[in-house]
Amino acid sequence: KIYKEPFRPQFHFSPEKNWMNDPNGMVYYKGVYHLFYQYYPEDIVWGPMHWGHATSTDLIHWQQKKIALFPDKLGMIFSGSAVVDLKNTSGLGTLANPPMIAIFTYHDMEGEKSGKTNFQTQGLAYSLDEGNTWLKYEGNPIIGNVDIKDFRDPKVFWNSVTNLWNLVLVAGDHAQFYTSKNLINWTFESEFGKGIGAHGGVWECPDIFKLKVANSNEEKWVLLISINPGAPNGGSGTQYFIGDFDGKSFKTKQKEVKWVDYGADNYAGVTYNDAPKNKRIFIGWMSNWHYARNTPTKNWRSAMTVPRELSLEKLRGDYVLKNAAVEQLKKQVISEFSKDVLVIPANQTITLIYDNLNQSEVKFKAQSKNLKLIFSNTVKDSLVIDYNVTKNIFSIDRRHSGFVNFEENFGKEIHKTSIPNIISKTVEYRILLDWSSIEIFLNGGIYSFTEQIFPKKPYTNLSIQSNEEQEIKNITINKIKGIW
Ligand code: FRU
Repeated sequence: KIYKEPFRPQFHFSPEKNWMNDPNGMVYYKGVYHLFYQYYPEDIVWGPMHWGHATSTDLIHWQQKKIALFPDKLGMIFSGSAVVDLKNTSGLGTLANPPMIAIFTYHDMEGEKSGKTNFQTQGLAYSLDEGNTWLKYEGNPIIGNVDIKDFRDPKVFWNSVTNLWNLVLVAGDHAQFYTSKNLINWTFESEFGKGIGAHGGVWECPDIFKLKVANSNEEKWVLLISINPGAPNGGSGTQYFIGDFDGKSFKTKQKEVKWVDYGADNYAGVTYNDAPKNKRIFIGWMSNWHYARNTPTKNWRSAMTVPRELSLEKLRGDYVLKNAAVEQLKKQVISEFSKDVLVIPANQTITLIYDNLNQSEVKFKAQSKNLKLIFSNTVKDSLVIDYNVTKNIFSIDRRHSGFVNFEENFGKEIHKTSIPNIISKTVEYRILLDWSSIEIFLNGGIYSFTEQIFPKKPYTNLSIQSNEEQEIKNITINKIKGIW
């Protein structure tokens, strides 16, 4: 099946039709990456939530599968995660055929309407055929709720140090940690987050995992927390904490608020359980609750980020979470233009013309000097990316990038980010442009910026400017093959 509607991403996952939000239940099993997602099958706006399902063997090409989880008498199916219960600790499968287990939030709309505060509980479903068909556990909910209004988005994983299952969920302004022997009976262990980190909105979609710190023997735990609103560029965004986790509680010395991505459109992102070679693969929802339901697409709404591999580095004495597109994307790329050295004379514009910019990868190494990149088309849409080295500010201006008036927040402001962690003399840019998104990675993902754009016509021109003479090295423009 080939999707060709206006703005349809050609190398990002999007559902065949109708509304999608958060990625859910990401688990790798028997050579297959499962991606479930918040899905409303009847409209292109949010509605009673189901879990949609897609699978991939390479994280690039996706197969659309049938809906995995439907609402039931306990409520709609909100966000959550999945594991394979290899030791059959739950007893819901067998050792020979271990169950795939999804733990998610039930949202009881009737309860909410009648003014109750305990309308979100955690439920379990299992599959004995590798995620194709699902059964709800008869004893649901497995974690009840006394009176916490926002109590959701459980992420579950096997802790090989404690030999127990761990679960983290969010409860309004903090995260809660639980343990279990069998994925069914859960013990509350601790909470984290009151008074720490960003609190401009409720906490959502937590995730926690361990990573090696590059060039050292150190290991640290990373806690992801999405918040909405309260992100640096308005609306929804995902912050992270670096610390230690002993299977029961998470501790950090971190003072500063840190963000996974500094663009406006990377939300609710979480990582795969059991990815091969111990990799930490992240996928985010490429939208923002500010305007998610207003974007100018028809038939379907929204897409996921490219899958990204997460890693940790220590820079300027502090931990930084890097995210860079997975290496599998390389095989989608066809080189169409390249130049070893491109000189940009001071105060002049060099323009590269290329028809396929809306399905391309642009890469180069720049000197750490002021640099402006302008993507534009024949109908005068322009997307401006500006690195002001003197002020150390990186900005994305999509105010005139195409259709922007569908909602007031979308094109209101230039998105500006201070980027103190770019400390090298050369700055590596990698830009992925699809029909309705741009993802920018600096220095291998020390910073990433993800934004939606809706150009009235595809961009055909890439203009490069600086007020100082610049030497751009190894610039390439590659076509990215469609995945459908
Ligand atoms: C995040 C979120 C989750 C919730 C889901 C509902 O975008 O609000 O907290 O489970 O979306 O669709």
